[in-house]
Amino acid sequence: ALPYDLAGVRVLISAGGTREALDPVRYLGNHSSGKQGYALARAAAQRGARVTLVSGATSDPGTPASVEIVDVDSARQMQAEMAERAKSSDVVIMAAAVADFRPLSVSGAKIKKGDEGPAPIRLDTNPDILAGLVQDRAAGRIPSDTVIVGFAAETGDADGGVLDHGRAKLRRKGCDLLVVNAVGGGKAFGTEDNTGWVLTADGRETGLPFGSKTLMASRILDEVASLVPDGLVP
Ligand code: C5P
Repeated sequence: ALPYDLAGVRVLISAGGTREALDPVRYLGNHSSGKQGYALARAAAQRGARVTLVSGATSDPGTPASVEIVDVDSARQMQAEMAERAKSSDVVIMAAAVADFRPLSVSGAKIKKGDEGPAPIRLDTNPDILAGLVQDRAAGRIPSDTVIVGFAAETGDADGGVLDHGRAKLRRKGCDLLVVNAVGGGKAFGTEDNTGWVLTADGRETGLPFGSKTLMASRILDEVASLVPDGLVP
């Protein structure tokens, strides 16, 4: 039987990839399928949580039952939705693949093939949504006991520094829990299976079994549930 250990807990999850417009018909995007974030939303709802999913672009992740879905396009739209909704959330999980950069300007008309060959695309830096949420919490805009979870997609294996990169990222981002995914060579992005580790700010490191994103979601939520303040769970 599924544990019902998140009953009434308000869980906010971002999933999928952001799209950064170049002109009315083109964008810069990524290959995120959204499947891991959607699996987390589904699993959290099954464990009794009240789940809101802020969803960027996805491919075929299925519609989770009993989950409120808010569709967004760009990183800045995702940031606005996450920052606002985090104020009334007990757990915030950034599973989305957020574009680090966006075109500096969005052309109002479709960009034409120029006589001088391709025009360069100039980029501006997007906000780091996860780091921003941690800052918002420190500044009191988000409740101090809200649990903030990040993801890290790292290439390589445990010996190849994936864990070291994960530990450094956990410190740099300041979140409470970081899910480290081993990616590259066909792993994680767009696939059905996933594996990795869960690192907590208090130094716990838990290996995740290789398996479906549903199984990953359930193991990740076990770790998240252990960080949710006792008073919240009935
Ligand atoms: O630094 P990196 O992109 O590897 O960090 C990944 C984590 O940070 C993920 O949880 C992702 O959702 C989040 N992120 C973000 N805003 C960005 C880039 C990444 O919130 N601009």
